Amino acid sequence: MSFTLSVLLLQLLSVTHSDVIQKYTLMSGSIELIGQVPNMLVKSVVWTWNKDKVAEWDKGDMTPTYYPTLNKTELNMDTWALTLSDLQPTCNGQYALQINGIETATSFQLIVLESVSGPNISTNCDQRSCNLTCQGAGIDHTEYSWTDNRGRNERGSVLKVEKTKGLDRVYTCNFSNPVSWNTSSVRERELFPPESTDANLYIILGSMGGAVLIAAAIGIAVYIKKRKVPDGEEQGGQVPGGKEPGSADEANGEDENRRFLPSQQPLQQQALQQQGIQMSRIENTDAVCEMNAMA
Ligand SMILES: *[C@@H]1O[C@H](CO)[C@@H](O)[C@H](O)[C@H]1NC(C)=O
Ligand SMILES: *[C@@H]1O[C@H](CO)[C@@H](O)[C@H](O)[C@H]1NC(C)=O
Ligand SMILES: *[C@@H]1O[C@H](CO)[C@@H](O)[C@H](O)[C@H]1NC(C)=O
Ligand SMILES: *[C@@H]1O[C@H](CO)[C@@H](O)[C@H](O)[C@H]1NC(C)=O
Repeated sequence: MSFTLSVLLLQLLSVTHSDVIQKYTLMSGSIELIGQVPNMLVKSVVWTWNKDKVAEWDKGDMTPTYYPTLNKTELNMDTWALTLSDLQPTCNGQYALQINGIETATSFQLIVLESVSGPNISTNCDQRSCNLTCQGAGIDHTEYSWTDNRGRNERGSVLKVEKTKGLDRVYTCNFSNPVSWNTSSVRERELFPPESTDANLYIILGSMGGAVLIAAAIGIAVYIKKRKVPDGEEQGGQVPGGKEPGSADEANGEDENRRFLPSQQPLQQQALQQQGIQMSRIENTDAVCEMNAMA
Protein backbone atom coordinates (compact mmCIF):
# COMPACT_ATOMS: atom_id res chain seq x y z
CA MET A 1 0.00 0.00 0.00
CA SER A 2 2.59 2.50 1.17
CA PHE A 3 4.84 1.40 -1.72
CA THR A 4 2.16 2.21 -4.31
CA LEU A 5 1.55 5.50 -2.59
CA SER A 6 5.21 6.51 -2.78
CA VAL A 7 5.31 5.53 -6.45
CA LEU A 8 2.27 7.71 -7.05
CA LEU A 9 3.84 10.57 -5.12
CA LEU A 10 7.06 10.23 -7.11
CA GLN A 11 5.08 10.29 -10.35
CA LEU A 12 3.25 13.39 -9.18
CA LEU A 13 6.52 15.04 -8.23
CA SER A 14 8.14 14.22 -11.56
CA VAL A 15 5.15 15.66 -13.39
CA THR A 16 5.11 18.88 -11.41
CA HIS A 17 8.90 19.14 -11.31
CA SER A 18 10.21 21.49 -13.98
CA ASP A 19 13.76 21.92 -15.16
CA VAL A 20 15.14 25.40 -15.54
CA ILE A 21 17.99 25.40 -18.00
CA GLN A 22 20.43 28.30 -17.87
CA LYS A 23 21.22 29.75 -21.26
CA TYR A 24 24.13 32.14 -21.61
CA THR A 25 24.32 34.22 -24.73
CA LEU A 26 26.67 36.83 -26.04
CA MET A 27 25.24 40.30 -26.39
CA SER A 28 23.78 41.00 -29.87
CA GLY A 29 23.74 37.27 -30.50
CA SER A 30 20.80 34.98 -30.95
CA ILE A 31 19.51 31.79 -29.39
CA GLU A 32 17.01 29.09 -30.14
CA LEU A 33 14.97 27.78 -27.21
CA ILE A 34 13.78 24.27 -27.90
CA GLY A 35 10.98 23.26 -25.57
CA GLN A 36 9.75 19.80 -24.65
CA VAL A 37 6.62 19.33 -26.69
CA PRO A 38 4.40 16.59 -25.21
CA ASN A 39 3.35 13.79 -27.50
CA MET A 40 -0.24 14.98 -28.05
CA LEU A 41 -2.26 16.91 -30.55
CA VAL A 42 -1.13 20.52 -30.35
CA LYS A 43 -4.05 22.93 -30.32
CA SER A 44 -2.37 26.01 -28.85
CA VAL A 45 1.18 27.20 -28.22
CA VAL A 46 2.30 30.07 -26.01
CA TRP A 47 5.84 31.19 -25.18
CA THR A 48 6.12 33.41 -22.13
CA TRP A 49 8.87 35.64 -20.87
CA ASN A 50 8.59 36.24 -17.13
CA LYS A 51 4.93 35.16 -17.46
CA ASP A 52 4.23 37.70 -20.24
CA LYS A 53 3.30 36.29 -23.62
CA VAL A 54 5.89 36.79 -26.34
CA ALA A 55 4.57 34.48 -29.05
CA GLU A 56 1.34 32.60 -29.53
CA TRP A 57 -0.26 30.23 -31.98
CA ASP A 58 -3.75 28.78 -31.95
CA LYS A 59 -5.17 26.00 -34.10
CA GLY A 60 -6.21 27.52 -37.40
CA ASP A 61 -3.82 30.50 -37.25
CA MET A 62 -1.78 30.91 -40.44
CA THR A 63 1.01 32.72 -38.57
CA PRO A 64 1.97 33.12 -34.95
CA THR A 65 1.12 36.24 -33.03
CA TYR A 66 4.06 38.14 -31.57
CA TYR A 67 3.88 40.48 -28.63
CA PRO A 68 6.26 43.46 -28.85
CA THR A 69 7.90 42.92 -25.50
CA LEU A 70 11.13 41.68 -27.10
CA ASN A 71 13.20 42.80 -30.04
CA LYS A 72 13.08 39.89 -32.44
CA THR A 73 11.29 36.63 -31.84
CA GLU A 74 10.39 33.86 -34.21
CA LEU A 75 8.27 30.81 -33.54
CA ASN A 76 9.04 27.69 -35.55
CA MET A 77 5.69 26.17 -36.47
CA ASP A 78 7.13 22.67 -36.90
CA THR A 79 9.07 22.36 -33.68
CA TRP A 80 7.52 25.21 -31.66
CA ALA A 81 11.04 26.35 -30.84
CA LEU A 82 11.49 30.06 -30.17
CA THR A 83 14.38 31.98 -31.68
CA LEU A 84 15.47 35.26 -30.10
CA SER A 85 17.81 37.62 -31.95
CA ASP A 86 19.83 40.75 -31.25
CA LEU A 87 19.88 39.87 -27.59
CA GLN A 88 20.36 42.55 -24.95
CA PRO A 89 20.56 42.25 -21.19
CA THR A 90 16.99 43.50 -21.14
CA CYS A 91 16.00 40.12 -22.61
CA ASN A 92 17.22 38.33 -19.48
CA GLY A 93 14.62 36.33 -17.68
CA GLN A 94 12.68 33.09 -17.67
CA TYR A 95 11.20 31.67 -20.83
CA ALA A 96 8.52 28.98 -20.68
CA LEU A 97 6.44 27.07 -23.20
CA GLN A 98 2.76 26.23 -22.77
CA ILE A 99 1.14 23.60 -24.96
CA ASN A 100 -2.62 23.38 -24.94
CA GLY A 101 -2.62 25.71 -21.95
CA ILE A 102 -0.26 23.57 -19.85
CA GLU A 103 3.24 24.66 -19.07
CA THR A 104 5.81 22.15 -20.30
CA ALA A 105 8.44 20.64 -18.01
CA THR A 106 11.40 22.58 -19.29
CA SER A 107 11.87 26.33 -19.05
CA PHE A 108 14.89 28.51 -19.73
CA GLN A 109 16.74 31.15 -17.77
CA LEU A 110 18.38 33.48 -20.27
CA ILE A 111 21.47 35.46 -19.30
CA VAL A 112 22.90 37.84 -21.90
CA LEU A 113 26.52 38.69 -21.29
CA GLU A 114 29.09 40.97 -22.78
CA SER A 115 32.37 39.46 -23.87
CA VAL A 116 35.02 39.86 -21.21
CA SER A 117 37.87 42.29 -21.63
CA GLY A 118 41.51 41.43 -21.11
CA PRO A 119 42.26 41.03 -17.41
CA ASN A 120 44.96 42.90 -15.50
CA ILE A 121 47.66 41.06 -13.60
CA SER A 122 49.08 42.57 -10.45
CA THR A 123 52.14 41.11 -8.83
CA ASN A 124 53.28 40.94 -5.26
CA CYS A 125 56.77 39.52 -5.08
CA ASP A 126 59.64 38.93 -2.75
CA GLN A 127 63.06 37.59 -3.79
CA ARG A 128 61.88 34.04 -4.48
CA SER A 129 58.09 34.01 -4.84
CA CYS A 130 55.15 35.98 -6.11
CA ASN A 131 51.44 36.19 -5.63
CA LEU A 132 49.97 36.92 -9.03
CA THR A 133 46.49 38.40 -8.90
CA CYS A 134 44.30 38.51 -11.95
CA GLN A 135 41.55 41.13 -12.13
CA GLY A 136 38.94 41.35 -14.85
CA ALA A 137 36.01 43.71 -15.25
CA GLY A 138 32.74 42.40 -13.85
CA ILE A 139 32.01 39.76 -11.28
CA ASP A 140 28.84 38.12 -12.58
CA HIS A 141 29.31 34.69 -14.11
CA THR A 142 33.05 35.23 -14.42
CA GLU A 143 35.84 32.91 -13.45
CA TYR A 144 39.61 32.85 -13.40
CA SER A 145 42.13 30.20 -14.15
CA TRP A 146 45.90 30.24 -14.39
CA THR A 147 48.19 28.22 -16.59
CA ASP A 148 51.89 28.24 -17.25
CA ASN A 149 53.96 27.08 -20.18
CA ARG A 150 54.87 23.88 -18.33
CA GLY A 151 51.34 22.54 -17.99
CA ARG A 152 50.43 23.93 -14.61
CA ASN A 153 46.70 24.67 -14.43
CA GLU A 154 44.88 26.16 -11.46
CA ARG A 155 41.52 27.70 -10.80
CA GLY A 156 41.10 30.99 -9.00
CA SER A 157 42.29 34.55 -9.45
CA VAL A 158 45.49 34.27 -7.37
CA LEU A 159 48.46 32.15 -8.37
CA LYS A 160 51.42 31.64 -6.07
CA VAL A 161 54.65 31.07 -7.97
CA GLU A 162 58.20 30.28 -6.95
CA LYS A 163 61.22 31.57 -8.80
CA THR A 164 62.72 28.92 -11.06
CA LYS A 165 66.28 28.56 -12.28
CA GLY A 166 65.49 29.01 -15.97
CA LEU A 167 63.38 32.15 -15.43
CA ASP A 168 61.55 31.00 -18.54
CA ARG A 169 58.04 30.46 -17.23
CA VAL A 170 55.15 32.39 -18.67
CA TYR A 171 52.09 32.67 -16.45
CA THR A 172 48.77 33.21 -18.18
CA CYS A 173 45.52 34.23 -16.56
CA ASN A 174 42.35 33.23 -18.35
CA PHE A 175 39.43 35.46 -17.42
CA SER A 176 36.20 34.08 -18.75
CA ASN A 177 32.45 34.01 -18.62
CA PRO A 178 30.27 31.33 -20.20
CA VAL A 179 30.32 33.06 -23.58
CA SER A 180 33.82 34.50 -23.88
CA TRP A 181 37.31 34.50 -22.48
CA ASN A 182 40.45 36.59 -22.69
CA THR A 183 43.92 36.19 -21.32
CA SER A 184 46.87 38.17 -20.03
CA SER A 185 50.34 36.85 -19.40
CA VAL A 186 53.34 37.75 -17.34
CA ARG A 187 56.87 36.47 -17.89
CA GLU A 188 58.88 35.13 -15.02
CA ARG A 189 61.77 37.39 -16.06
CA GLU A 190 59.57 40.42 -15.36
CA LEU A 191 58.76 39.12 -11.89
CA PHE A 192 62.34 38.54 -10.86
CA PRO A 193 64.15 41.33 -12.65
CA PRO A 194 67.77 41.12 -13.80
CA GLU A 195 69.10 43.09 -10.80
CA SER A 196 68.91 40.03 -8.62
CA THR A 197 70.44 37.90 -11.38
CA ASP A 198 73.18 40.49 -11.86
CA ALA A 199 73.83 40.50 -8.15
CA ASN A 200 74.37 36.76 -8.33
CA LEU A 201 76.57 37.26 -11.35
CA TYR A 202 78.61 39.87 -9.51
CA ILE A 203 79.06 37.49 -6.62
CA ILE A 204 80.30 34.84 -9.03
CA LEU A 205 82.50 37.32 -10.88
CA GLY A 206 83.67 38.69 -7.55
CA SER A 207 84.72 35.29 -6.30
CA MET A 208 86.30 34.55 -9.66
CA GLY A 209 88.17 37.85 -9.43
CA GLY A 210 89.20 36.94 -5.91
CA ALA A 211 90.44 33.59 -7.11
CA VAL A 212 92.39 35.31 -9.88
CA LEU A 213 93.91 37.72 -7.38
CA ILE A 214 94.84 34.88 -5.03
CA ALA A 215 96.29 32.93 -7.94
CA ALA A 216 98.24 36.02 -9.01
CA ALA A 217 99.48 36.54 -5.46
CA ILE A 218 100.63 32.92 -5.28
CA GLY A 219 102.25 33.28 -8.68
CA ILE A 220 104.16 36.39 -7.57
CA ALA A 221 105.14 34.76 -4.30
CA VAL A 222 106.39 31.68 -6.12
CA TYR A 223 108.25 33.85 -8.60
CA ILE A 224 109.94 35.80 -5.80
CA LYS A 225 110.88 32.59 -4.05
CA LYS A 226 112.29 31.18 -7.23
CA ARG A 227 114.22 34.34 -7.82
CA LYS A 228 115.78 33.75 -4.42
CA VAL A 229 116.44 30.06 -4.97
CA PRO A 230 119.49 30.69 -7.17
CA ASP A 231 121.12 32.66 -4.36
CA GLY A 232 120.68 29.67 -2.09
CA GLU A 233 121.79 27.12 -4.65
CA GLU A 234 124.74 29.25 -5.37
CA GLN A 235 125.62 28.57 -1.76
CA GLY A 236 124.74 24.88 -1.59
CA GLY A 237 125.59 23.70 -5.11
CA GLN A 238 127.97 26.13 -6.66
CA VAL A 239 130.17 27.14 -3.82
CA PRO A 240 132.14 23.86 -3.71
CA GLY A 241 132.66 24.21 -7.47
CA GLY A 242 133.14 27.95 -7.03
CA LYS A 243 136.25 27.29 -5.01
CA GLU A 244 137.83 25.56 -7.99
CA PRO A 245 138.31 28.71 -10.05
CA GLY A 246 139.93 30.23 -6.97
CA SER A 247 139.85 33.67 -8.54
CA ALA A 248 140.35 36.87 -6.64
CA ASP A 249 136.69 37.79 -7.08
CA GLU A 250 135.65 34.66 -5.20
CA ALA A 251 136.13 36.22 -1.82
CA ASN A 252 133.85 39.16 -2.60
CA GLY A 253 131.14 36.85 -3.95
CA GLU A 254 131.29 34.60 -0.91
CA ASP A 255 131.06 37.56 1.41
CA GLU A 256 127.94 38.83 -0.32
CA ASN A 257 126.35 35.40 -0.26
CA ARG A 258 127.07 34.85 3.38
CA ARG A 259 125.50 38.14 4.28
CA PHE A 260 122.16 36.90 2.86
CA LEU A 261 122.63 33.30 3.90
CA PRO A 262 121.04 33.20 7.39
CA SER A 263 117.70 34.58 6.26
CA GLN A 264 117.62 32.81 2.93
CA GLN A 265 118.54 29.29 3.97
CA PRO A 266 115.06 28.25 5.21
CA LEU A 267 113.37 29.81 2.18
CA GLN A 268 115.68 28.01 -0.13
CA GLN A 269 114.98 24.63 1.41
CA GLN A 270 111.28 25.25 1.41
CA ALA A 271 111.44 26.26 -2.20
CA LEU A 272 113.35 23.16 -3.19
CA GLN A 273 110.94 20.88 -1.39
CA GLN A 274 107.75 22.49 -2.61
CA GLN A 275 108.52 23.44 -6.16
CA GLY A 276 108.47 21.03 -9.05
CA ILE A 277 111.77 19.86 -10.46
CA GLN A 278 111.05 21.47 -13.79
CA MET A 279 110.54 24.87 -12.21
CA SER A 280 113.70 24.49 -10.18
CA ARG A 281 115.58 23.52 -13.24
CA ILE A 282 114.46 26.65 -15.09
CA GLU A 283 115.44 28.73 -12.12
CA ASN A 284 118.75 26.92 -11.86
CA THR A 285 119.46 27.64 -15.50
CA ASP A 286 118.73 31.28 -14.89
CA ALA A 287 120.79 31.18 -11.77
CA VAL A 288 123.67 29.53 -13.54
CA CYS A 289 123.51 32.10 -16.32
CA GLU A 290 123.43 34.93 -13.81
CA MET A 291 126.24 33.32 -11.90
CA ASN A 292 128.29 32.95 -15.03
CA ALA A 293 127.56 36.49 -16.03
CA MET A 294 128.60 37.67 -12.61
CA ALA A 295 131.69 35.48 -12.70
C1 LIG B 1 41.16 40.73 -25.03
O1 LIG B 1 41.08 41.96 -24.38
C2 LIG B 1 41.79 43.00 -24.98
C3 LIG B 1 41.74 44.20 -24.06
O2 LIG B 1 40.47 44.35 -23.54
C4 LIG B 1 41.17 43.25 -26.36
O3 LIG B 1 41.89 44.26 -27.02
C5 LIG B 1 41.24 41.98 -27.17
O4 LIG B 1 40.59 42.16 -28.40
C6 LIG B 1 40.58 40.85 -26.43
N1 LIG B 1 40.78 39.62 -27.15
C7 LIG B 1 39.79 38.80 -27.42
C8 LIG B 1 40.17 37.56 -28.14
O5 LIG B 1 38.64 39.02 -27.09
C1 LIG C 1 51.36 35.61 -0.87
O1 LIG C 1 50.17 35.45 -0.14
C2 LIG C 1 50.33 34.72 1.07
C3 LIG C 1 48.98 34.62 1.70
O2 LIG C 1 48.07 34.03 0.82
C4 LIG C 1 51.32 35.40 1.98
O3 LIG C 1 51.53 34.63 3.13
C5 LIG C 1 52.63 35.59 1.25
O4 LIG C 1 53.52 36.32 2.06
C6 LIG C 1 52.42 36.31 -0.05
N1 LIG C 1 53.68 36.35 -0.76
C7 LIG C 1 54.21 37.48 -1.23
C8 LIG C 1 55.48 37.34 -1.98
O5 LIG C 1 53.66 38.54 -1.09
C1 LIG D 1 43.35 47.39 -15.93
O1 LIG D 1 44.33 48.41 -15.89
C2 LIG D 1 43.99 49.56 -16.67
C3 LIG D 1 45.18 50.49 -16.62
O2 LIG D 1 45.63 50.66 -15.31
C4 LIG D 1 42.71 50.18 -16.13
O3 LIG D 1 42.36 51.27 -16.93
C5 LIG D 1 41.61 49.16 -16.16
O4 LIG D 1 40.46 49.68 -15.58
C6 LIG D 1 42.02 47.92 -15.39
N1 LIG D 1 41.00 46.90 -15.55
C7 LIG D 1 40.55 46.22 -14.50
C8 LIG D 1 39.51 45.21 -14.82
O5 LIG D 1 40.93 46.38 -13.37
C1 LIG E 1 39.93 30.04 -21.09
O1 LIG E 1 38.86 29.54 -20.34
C2 LIG E 1 37.71 29.16 -21.11
C3 LIG E 1 36.62 28.75 -20.15
O2 LIG E 1 37.07 27.81 -19.25
C4 LIG E 1 38.11 28.04 -22.05
O3 LIG E 1 37.01 27.66 -22.84
C5 LIG E 1 39.25 28.52 -22.93
O4 LIG E 1 39.67 27.49 -23.76
C6 LIG E 1 40.40 29.01 -22.08
N1 LIG E 1 41.42 29.58 -22.94
C7 LIG E 1 42.72 29.27 -22.80
C8 LIG E 1 43.66 29.92 -23.75
O5 LIG E 1 43.10 28.50 -21.95
